[in-house]
Amino acid sequence: MKLYVEKDYDAMSRRVAAMIIEEMNYNPRSVLGMSTGGTPMGTYELLIKAYEEKKIDFSRIKTFNCDEYIGLHGEDPNSYRYFMNNNLFNHVNVDTRNTYIPDGRAKNLQAYCKAYDNLIESFGGIDLQLLGIGTNGHIAFNEPAEELSLNTFIAQLDESTIKSNSRFFDSIEDVPTSAISMGMGSIMKANKIIMLANGKNKAEAINRLLESELVTGWLPASFLHLHTDVTLVIDEEAFSLCDERTLYKFY
Ligand code: PGA
Repeated sequence: MKLYVEKDYDAMSRRVAAMIIEEMNYNPRSVLGMSTGGTPMGTYELLIKAYEEKKIDFSRIKTFNCDEYIGLHGEDPNSYRYFMNNNLFNHVNVDTRNTYIPDGRAKNLQAYCKAYDNLIESFGGIDLQLLGIGTNGHIAFNEPAEELSLNTFIAQLDESTIKSNSRFFDSIEDVPTSAISMGMGSIMKANKIIMLANGKNKAEAINRLLESELVTGWLPASFLHLHTDVTLVIDEEAFSLCDERTLYKFY
């Protein structure tokens, strides 16, 4: 795992955007794994700017999002489809037919999960996966547990996740309690992974991730230590509980 600690959110976003731009220019047919939430919004803004400045072209790009709430329609402002359209897809020249986000209203959810993994495989897998991390160490909706799911699955959201995501909803009761999420295996099959985190509320999860020698289902992000091409880009606040020497362990 390679680690970059940037001064603040903007610097973190700039580094991540630069890495995605490099990937897209290296392979204009890249399959990108996308994430939602507050963390990647700055990165998406910079990708839109790069597109406007003609530095990147989305016309042959395919995207797969990690997750979607069950029960929400794509036009619901809290759905991840709406988030992606609003924060990225509507502003660039991606073909929306090439943007895949799990369908939270699929009739047969089990079959749908299997089909989602098959679809990713059919495009040769994900070249670059962008990930956030939950305050509890989750990635996508792989919540801390003794056993984690290998494949795309129906996830039950942790209390702490419902609480943190409630900031986007009118009330906590409106937050869906389940989601379709890529499993740990679906994520770990990506060629490259970039995980980003900012702010003090992520410091504890980052501290556990970087200071512990354990790979455990109780910290799903810890499995990323087993992947050969992971870059963690965080800001100083997210790094604030770590030992300075940790910087030299991951370079
Ligand atoms: P956030 O969510 O970017 O809104 O903090 C990250 C996550 O839960 O994976």
